[in-house]
Amino acid sequence: MIVLDNVCRTFRIGEELVKAVDHISLKINDNEFVAVVGRSGSGKSTLMNLIGALDHVDSGSIIVNGTDITKLNNRDLAEYRLKSTGFIFQAFHLEPLYTVYDNVRIALMIADIPPRLQKEKVINVLKKVGLESKNGVKVSKLSGGERQRVAIARAIVNDAPIILADEPCGNLDSLNSGLIMDLLKTLHKYGKTIILVTHNINDAKCADRIIELKDGRVIRDEASDLFSI
Ligand SMILES: Nc1ncnc2c1ncn2[C@@H]1O[C@H](COP(=O)(O)OP(=O)(O)O)[C@@H](O)[C@H]1O
Ligand SMILES: [Mg+2]
Repeated sequence: MIVLDNVCRTFRIGEELVKAVDHISLKINDNEFVAVVGRSGSGKSTLMNLIGALDHVDSGSIIVNGTDITKLNNRDLAEYRLKSTGFIFQAFHLEPLYTVYDNVRIALMIADIPPRLQKEKVINVLKKVGLESKNGVKVSKLSGGERQRVAIARAIVNDAPIILADEPCGNLDSLNSGLIMDLLKTLHKYGKTIILVTHNINDAKCADRIIELKDGRVIRDEASDLFSI
């Protein structure tokens, strides 16, 4: 379970203080599929970065399976990022000149998975995202939809229980968005906790629950079948 208690994150832009996340408290159960919606600038990415420990809170706590990640030292934070969470961004964050295979393998190398185990794990996740036949191709030669599937493969190769996807379909056409959403639904079915930021209400409806942010606060939090615009 993920428990946020009174989490705040403020940025200073010149003279102005922006409360990107303003006293957010919420609980997300294991294997829940949550969509986070809200206008641009409402704090969605900041919230995701805090849960993924890519950014630090100013105050409040984030307790993941009993551990307050805001209190971890750098070493334990690195371990948390690698083993507990898989992060998928809108702008893929891949190495364009490396092959599909190597882009995924990097995550295993960083996690100190022995080289003899790496190949099977990489090939397995590439099968799951339908890119097995492209494993030797440089990422720069792939389409946007294929790149996002490589990013998903990299996010899931360490078998982390929590998948954080920040507008993963933001740059994709509807066909490729559909493929990515199907992958997220499959991961959910296999027990992962999914937190998805999206602008697309149909994608949000794939989740069990929709959380709407405005000015860094939660203004709505309800079952997705009750949610209407
Ligand atoms: N690294 C940063 N430095 C300064 N301001 C930031 C930073 N990240 C986010 N913000 C500000 O915090 C607010 C929320 O941003 P963000 O979480 O990116 O919103 P969203 O993802 O919903 O579009 C915005 O006003 C944004 O300008
Ligand atoms: Mg964002």
